[in-house]
Amino acid sequence: MSTSGLFSEEHSAEVVAASFADTPDPRLRQVLTSLVQHLHAFVKDVELTEEEWAVAIDFLTRTGQLSDDVRQEFILLSDVLGVSMLVETINHRSGGTATESTVLGPFHVVESPPRALGDDIALDGKGTPCLVSGRVTGPGGEPLAGASVDVWQTNEDGFYDVQQPDVQPAGNLRGMFTVDGDGRFWFRSVVPRYYPIPDDGPVGQLLAATGRHPYRPAHLHVIVAAPGHRTVTTHVFVADSPYLDSDAVFGVKESLVREVPEVDDPARAAELGLTNPFRTLTVDLSLLRDDRVQPGAP
Ligand code: BEZ
Ligand code: FE
Repeated sequence: MSTSGLFSEEHSAEVVAASFADTPDPRLRQVLTSLVQHLHAFVKDVELTEEEWAVAIDFLTRTGQLSDDVRQEFILLSDVLGVSMLVETINHRSGGTATESTVLGPFHVVESPPRALGDDIALDGKGTPCLVSGRVTGPGGEPLAGASVDVWQTNEDGFYDVQQPDVQPAGNLRGMFTVDGDGRFWFRSVVPRYYPIPDDGPVGQLLAATGRHPYRPAHLHVIVAAPGHRTVTTHVFVADSPYLDSDAVFGVKESLVREVPEVDDPARAAELGLTNPFRTLTVDLSLLRDDRVQPGAP
């Protein structure tokens, strides 16, 4: 009997990776082989103790137990480890020519209600009024008439409607808009506020144990889509928000930060149906053409 394939500390990764050699799906084989190599290198690097491994297993078990359709603690773990942002960034390289993307987050749980241009999405009328406007264009700056702009944000207390079903009306601060023939959209809202990610579970314990705060800087979520173009899931960050340089989920990209200047113009406010003074947020969005081969295309 040959013993060259038996497990040893020195050859642990090769031995385990070899067990996947006959995996029919080549991509699965590649991913598992690399995963094993990195995992074994990590365990050797830190010389993991049995107690630490038991703590890790317990942590992952509790992370799974807290996850369901509404609360996804594993995604949150991926978020605070920067993995969500890395996967996102690798898969949506824009080459500097389109609006950059960032994480979707867990609060796009309901379909945004269709709204007309100019509507006020602050259904409870609370918060600092803000006019949000912008234009959706293609790679050559051409307007993308008919594009959809789906937005959602927190109220002035830093909560999404789904987190406060007894406080906020359903659909508060959410809206699905269709741009006009010139690619333009505009709506009334309030200035979003920074807020903590859910930190009452294992991920919160991880943040506390490492001296990290759970906050995200103030932002407006946007999904912009147009036929024949690549959909972009992104945020617009408020330039004067705290935590811009220490987002708990690493979602901030410089190109996504916008000033939200105050306008003191009673006549303009009356025309728009906003109280004076109000703030303005301009969000121009640029999409790449989707020239990737569609599955099933000849
Ligand atoms: C959010 O922006 O809604 C979010 C993103 C990642 C984790 C938690 C919240
Ligand atoms: Fe958010």
